[in-house]
Amino acid sequence: MMIDFHSHILPDFDDGANDVNMSMAMLSASKAMGVDVVVSTSHCYPTSSRDVDKFLSERDRAYSGLKEAYERADSPMPEIRMGSEVHLIGDLTRFKRLKELCVADTNYMLVEMPMSPWNDDAIDNLYKLSISGIKPIIAHAERNLSQTAALLDSLYELDILIQINSESFGMSPLKKFTDGMMRNKMIHIIGTDMHNMTTRRPTMDRAKKYISKRFGDECWEYLMGNAQTILNGEEISYRSLRGFKKRGIF
Ligand SMILES: [Fe+2]
Repeated sequence: MMIDFHSHILPDFDDGANDVNMSMAMLSASKAMGVDVVVSTSHCYPTSSRDVDKFLSERDRAYSGLKEAYERADSPMPEIRMGSEVHLIGDLTRFKRLKELCVADTNYMLVEMPMSPWNDDAIDNLYKLSISGIKPIIAHAERNLSQTAALLDSLYELDILIQINSESFGMSPLKKFTDGMMRNKMIHIIGTDMHNMTTRRPTMDRAKKYISKRFGDECWEYLMGNAQTILNGEEISYRSLRGFKKRGIF
């Protein structure tokens, strides 16, 4: 089972697919490289409960637009599961329908951290989210490289998962960081973060090839297994993942 946990496939909604044709091309290319499930994680920048309401209703509308073409498709398509990529602007727990932003009716939420160095507020906001019962997954943690390295241990204590973009594997200058994270069992989820078919295209095949070759097929299966566990609505935790043992380097 191959699961792409991070994507911007909804047509004309965020900075992802421009239109339904592009959405369908992204989905079709994903299926062709072996992806079974694509989690749709459109950008959400909530500063109020009203923003969350608006996001959810507009997301529904964009998804309906895609569904029509998706159901008529004459080539195989991956399954779509709904989620969002929520920007951690402040204390998110004050918003009423927050749980609806989680992935596929689970308690897991893909969270985009501030690009500025994480201060105590950012960590505090993660903590609040965590104790509210929502399990944060930090989106493309390799983008927050400098601050992530210093904060890994505190993230571990907060029971937080780490997602890395497929295209960041084997790519200089991120290679050293992502390889080190992988060896230290700090990566739990993989996603493409695809936005289009050119500059930010589907690349799950590339990650599969790199990870399987460098760390073993079991490592790839482990990463896909984590995504599957989440989508099954089952609980996984940072602590149990840290205890994961397998043969070889990982
Ligand atoms: Fe994204």
